[in-house]
Amino acid sequence: MELPLFAALQRTPRVALTLAFVLFFLTIVPALYSLLANPILPLLISSSETDGPFPSDHMHLSHMNSPSVRTLSPVNSPIPAPPYHTRPQKSSSGKIPSPNISPIPVPPDHTPSRHQHSSSHQSPSPHVNSPIPAPLNSSPVATSTSRTQIRDVMTKQRCDLFNGEWIPNNESPYYNMTCWAIQEHQNCMQFGRPDTGFLRWRWKPDGCDLPIFDPQEFLEMVRGKSMGFVGDSISRNQFQSLLCLLSRVEYPEDISSSPDIAYKVWNYTSYNFTLHAMWSPFLVKTTTPDPKSNFFSLYLDEYDTKWTSQINQLDYLIISSGHWFYRPLIFYENEKVSGCQYCSLPNTTELPLHYGYRKALRTSLKAILENFKGLAILRSFSPQHFEGGAWNKGGNCVRTRPYRRNETIPEVADLKIHDIQQEEFRAAEEGKKKKGLRLRLMDTTQAMLLRPDGHPGRYGHLQTAELSSRNDCIHWCLPGPIDTWNDILLQMMKTEK
Ligand SMILES: *[C@@H]1O[C@H](CO)[C@@H](O)[C@H](O)[C@H]1NC(C)=O
Ligand SMILES: *[C@@H]1O[C@H](CO)[C@@H](O)[C@H](O)[C@H]1NC(C)=O
Ligand SMILES: *[C@@H]1O[C@H](CO)[C@@H](O)[C@H](O)[C@H]1NC(C)=O
Ligand SMILES: *[C@@H]1O[C@H](CO)[C@@H](O)[C@H](O)[C@H]1NC(C)=O
Ligand SMILES: *[C@@H]1O[C@H](CO)[C@@H](O)[C@H](O)[C@H]1NC(C)=O
Repeated sequence: MELPLFAALQRTPRVALTLAFVLFFLTIVPALYSLLANPILPLLISSSETDGPFPSDHMHLSHMNSPSVRTLSPVNSPIPAPPYHTRPQKSSSGKIPSPNISPIPVPPDHTPSRHQHSSSHQSPSPHVNSPIPAPLNSSPVATSTSRTQIRDVMTKQRCDLFNGEWIPNNESPYYNMTCWAIQEHQNCMQFGRPDTGFLRWRWKPDGCDLPIFDPQEFLEMVRGKSMGFVGDSISRNQFQSLLCLLSRVEYPEDISSSPDIAYKVWNYTSYNFTLHAMWSPFLVKTTTPDPKSNFFSLYLDEYDTKWTSQINQLDYLIISSGHWFYRPLIFYENEKVSGCQYCSLPNTTELPLHYGYRKALRTSLKAILENFKGLAILRSFSPQHFEGGAWNKGGNCVRTRPYRRNETIPEVADLKIHDIQQEEFRAAEEGKKKKGLRLRLMDTTQAMLLRPDGHPGRYGHLQTAELSSRNDCIHWCLPGPIDTWNDILLQMMKTEK
């Protein structure tokens, strides 16, 4: 028996015609409406001074994850995360200590040179101060059950690069600790770390093998092209890993147009490949706190033109962020204060944690949809692993091997940012349909959750008494598990070819 509708359609073409019209209007009208309701933001001129590349800070608030309704009351809310390295006595009166700027190391030799083998004759960069990475805060570890699995949005990939397990690998590391691009505080062996087991793992995705980064192959692929990294010190952590992996083949020439270490450009001259580092821990237009207040002002609907104005010349873009959004912040929207986070200011609405992050990410993705034509990759949140206390209360990361996937992982990282990244990525993907741009998610969060052993911990600095409580469980040792991000990067680039 035929369905009545089809019977009617067969008999009366007018019904079919009417139906077609109705369907047309149902699709086109909402589409037009949403276009009008969300006019594309004009490029705004930013007068903001972005900050120097301080080591990342972090504050962990595992129970402040409610995305929407919860307003943080000043009484119950955790102490606001101070900028930089000290805790404020009062959220709005603490003075900011001068930033601890960590210079980006320079290649040992500025003239291009090719190296056939892992170079063993390079000495570390001579003038690296010891910038001590100080995360901001972390809640005590809840050792109860946790999320060992996180949702995955990549469905198009033939093989799931982002779910898998760390398996032993006796061939790593793939570059020497003396690589010029390693900043002292991420050189985990220099200050006496006794165990080297953390170097000997590789990521095994479910259903396939992830090839180890091949610098020659990478450089051939990017010949005549350019790549940019936008983000905070973990973004830098990744491109420093890339610089080291590539140092087996070539040292780049520094062709940065200014001495500003937050915006570096390197040229791999044999390949005419340029690598751009763009510092933007908040991704949107930001003004630095004045010395009397702790608050960065974030213009959540305005671009950080320091990077958005450059991306139209790039072929590849890797963007990431997260850790800086746990500080006291003031938010501006439509050029007016729309609220704040941990501010306790009169007449200013306390907005829920992550409100600012979602908006800032959305604005950045919009800038990418508008101005970028190549392959854009959103790299997901990099979890920290403080255990046994907050970063400033003796919390540390002392494990010496990865978790197995069947193990229970202590809930030490706030994964709400990861959720937001997936949601906003999906929304941006919808929005880009008609453009040539490719937007992908590099969802490394799950893999990194399994690597509590890969952080500098207390071995990111001299083992002196006054520094002994400073443990970095946020950044990643170089060489170390973060090298995997570049294995994955190359793999994703190949998939796009
Ligand atoms: C790294 O360099 C040091 C000193 O030049 C050398 O002794 C060591 O064998 C090198 N290690 C690797 C893995 O190449
Ligand atoms: C280098 O690459 C740029 C594009 O990134 C291109 O415009 C330029 O012509 C190339 N130069 C050489 C010498 O190939
Ligand atoms: C990079 O180096 C190549 C070879 O010297 C040169 O042709 C190219 O113009 C350089 N790129 C930039 C952006 O300076
Ligand atoms: C807060 O708002 C009230 C009422 O609108 C106003 O009287 C008061 O001056 C405001 N306080 C500040 C510090 O702006
Ligand atoms: C996890 O799996 C490994 C082997 O796959 C096994 O040896 C280990 O006992 C398991 N651990 C738990 C907690 O189930």
